[in-house]
Amino acid sequence: MNAAAVAADAGAITVRGVSKWFSTAEGTPLQVLDNIDLTIAAQAIVAIIGASGCGKSTLLNIISGLVTPERGDIILNGIPARNFSDWRSISYMFQEDRLLPWRTALRNVEFSLEAGSMPRAEREARARDALKLVGLESFADAFPYQLSGGMRSRVALARSLVQEPCILLMDEPFSRLDALTRAQMHEELLRIQQLKRMTIVFVTHDVEEAVVLADRVVIMAPRPGRIRDTATIALARPRDATEAATARQAHELKSLI
Ligand SMILES: Nc1ncnc2c1ncn2[C@@H]1O[C@H](COP(=O)(O)OP(=O)(O)OP(=O)(O)O)[C@@H](O)[C@H]1O
Ligand SMILES: [Mg+2]
Repeated sequence: MNAAAVAADAGAITVRGVSKWFSTAEGTPLQVLDNIDLTIAAQAIVAIIGASGCGKSTLLNIISGLVTPERGDIILNGIPARNFSDWRSISYMFQEDRLLPWRTALRNVEFSLEAGSMPRAEREARARDALKLVGLESFADAFPYQLSGGMRSRVALARSLVQEPCILLMDEPFSRLDALTRAQMHEELLRIQQLKRMTIVFVTHDVEEAVVLADRVVIMAPRPGRIRDTATIALARPRDATEAATARQAHELKSLI
C-alpha cells in the first residue's frame, strides 16, 4: 500500500466477525459479543447504543487493543490490529474522567505525552494548545478539585486530543453532566472534529445525544451482544436537540432499540 492510500485510510475501522467470551465464576464461559461486523469510514462519527451489559464497552476495548477477541479481526487504518503499531493515534476517553488529583489541568493533559521521548518544553506547549482547544487555557494551573464537572470533562477531552489521534473512542463521556453542559460539550466536540477530522466512536445511553452528534448509529442487542440495526442520521448540521426534525429522528431511533 502506498503512503497516499494509508493517509486516506487514516482513522478507518473495520470490525470483522468479532466474537468475545469472558470466563465466569461458575466456570462456563459467557459469550459477550457474537459475530460483530462493522465498517467505520475515516472521519465518521458513530454512536453505539444498547441495553446495559450488551457489550458496548467491550467492543470499544477491543477496538482500542485493550482486549483481544477470541474470534474475528480488527483492521485499523487498513492494517490488521496484529500488525498495527501506531496505537498512540488512538485515544480512549473513559466514562469517568480519571484525572490525577495531585496534578494541575496542564500536567494532567501532559500525562498523555509522557510515555514518549518528547522534550518537556514541547510537551507543555502541546498541552497548552489542547487546553486552548477546549477553552480552558486560563485554568492550566488549576487542580481537578478546583474545576466544575464540565471543566473536568474538558480536561479529559484535552488529554485525549493532545496526541492528535486519528481515532477517538469515547465511553459515555458526557453522561454525568447536566443537560446544558452536555450540550456545550457536544458543540465543542463537533467544532474540534471539524478542525482535526478524527474518527469518533462513542457509546451513549442518550438517543438525543446520538442524533445530535452521529453520522451513523449502531444499535446493539444483548445476550450475547450483537448488532441489531444501524441507522444513518442524515440531518443537516448544526443540529439542535429541540428542533422537530431532530426529535422525530430520535423517536424513530427509539423504535429500533
Ligand atoms: N473483564 C471481564 N470479565 C468478565 N466479564 C466481563 C468483563 N468485562 C465485561 N464483562 C461482562 O461482559 C458483559 C458486557 O459488559 P460491557 O461492560 O461491555 O457492557 P456495556 O454494554 O458496556 O454495559 P453498560 O451500558 O452497563 O456500560 C457484561 O455481562 C459484563 O459482566
Ligand atoms: Mg459500558
